[in-house]
Amino acid sequence: MPLDDRPTATDMSDLRASPIDLLVTGIGQLCTLDRSGSSDAGPRRGADLGDLGLVADAALAVRDGRVVAYGPGEDFTGLDADTTYDAAGKCVLPGLVDPHTHAVYGRTRQDEYERRLRGETYLEIAAAGGGIHASVRDLRDRDEDELVELALPRLGEALAHGTTTIEIKSGYGLSPKDEIKMLRAARRAAETVGLRAVLTCLAAHEIPLDYRDRREVYIDLVCEEILPRVKQEGLADRLDVFCEPSVFDLAETERILTRGLELGLRATVHADELESFGGAILAARLGAGSADHLIRIDREGIEALAASDTVAVLLPGTVFTLGLRDYAPAREMIEAGVVVALATDYNPGSSPISSLPLVMAIACTQMRLSPAEALTAATVNAAHALGLGDEAGSLAPGRRADFLVLDVDDYRLVPYHAGRNPVAGVFRDGELVT
Ligand code: NIG
Ligand code: FE
Repeated sequence: MPLDDRPTATDMSDLRASPIDLLVTGIGQLCTLDRSGSSDAGPRRGADLGDLGLVADAALAVRDGRVVAYGPGEDFTGLDADTTYDAAGKCVLPGLVDPHTHAVYGRTRQDEYERRLRGETYLEIAAAGGGIHASVRDLRDRDEDELVELALPRLGEALAHGTTTIEIKSGYGLSPKDEIKMLRAARRAAETVGLRAVLTCLAAHEIPLDYRDRREVYIDLVCEEILPRVKQEGLADRLDVFCEPSVFDLAETERILTRGLELGLRATVHADELESFGGAILAARLGAGSADHLIRIDREGIEALAASDTVAVLLPGTVFTLGLRDYAPAREMIEAGVVVALATDYNPGSSPISSLPLVMAIACTQMRLSPAEALTAATVNAAHALGLGDEAGSLAPGRRADFLVLDVDDYRLVPYHAGRNPVAGVFRDGELVT
């Protein structure tokens, strides 16, 4: 795509009226993802996924932790700033947004990784008490402090790879006490690392083994005890359900989501991952913020999402880790007008991947996203999946000054160098954090 020099998005006289906190100069390529001047500044669909709002030889001004202006560098010469940062001709991007992780957990599960490589499937391992159940047993034996300690380096790795906003789910507790412990640990760990966090209660990740023969009792516990407490104590902003025939069926999913919505939580769904099952259609009908996975989504599901504001969060790192062949039909979704985002699904079982640049690389080669589409999916659309489109995911005036300075001068090198970390500096609220 050709670089286009957009006009500075703020009146320069306002910029000169009072000093700014930070001026980033020498930006060889600024990807603003800004369409605030356009009639459609919301989540990106169709051809708009390729529009990065590029500015060449740019500068970016920050005041009180928010973007005040950007534009051609020469417009900013002589501007008074407390701090000046020279990007040395490199590329600057909005901080990446990871809208789906299970990043708080105990031990890693490389034993299962090896078993899958020998031919066992994810569902066979789960049926034998492994998978999510293995992480539940492990997490229940640890206290909150231990979970925080384990999460810190994992979240630090995500930040170092450019994630500045992260969603973290519970779902390895599956009891009131353990779900709450997990959400508290997630909040503390994210705050310590300096990540902007959105927390999601996934008490409906699985039926705990001791409720196997009385699943209704567990669903009652989720609806009448766990979700109300989570809401009342402000422990999470959203709820999620693993909607699959072998986990929570459509009627159960609808009941749990409806209860969460009633309580004022935002909804999201693990949908159509293993079977085409109507999860995406249900998500769209209930006005969920996102429907995630969608490997098996059918035409009807795609049309339902396209006609809604529910974001399709695709998790190609999971397909890659599980060694499956079929990725979600991303091109078909984009062409149908679905809002497509990307996430890591960072978890100890199906996606031990904390790097969004790696997920972007997989999305490009395996789902045929262009590098520009992958970047839009991991920034502005991901922020919309979390209801944060007005705060994060783009460098428009008024948005949080969360941005990355790369060590390369072209955003396409992010997915191109799969497995390499291109992030040289991470700014959050206008402060250099790593
Ligand atoms: O998103 N699909 C369900 N949950 C996770 C897997 C979690 C695990 O295996 O521990 C996922 O892939
Ligand atoms: Fe997940």
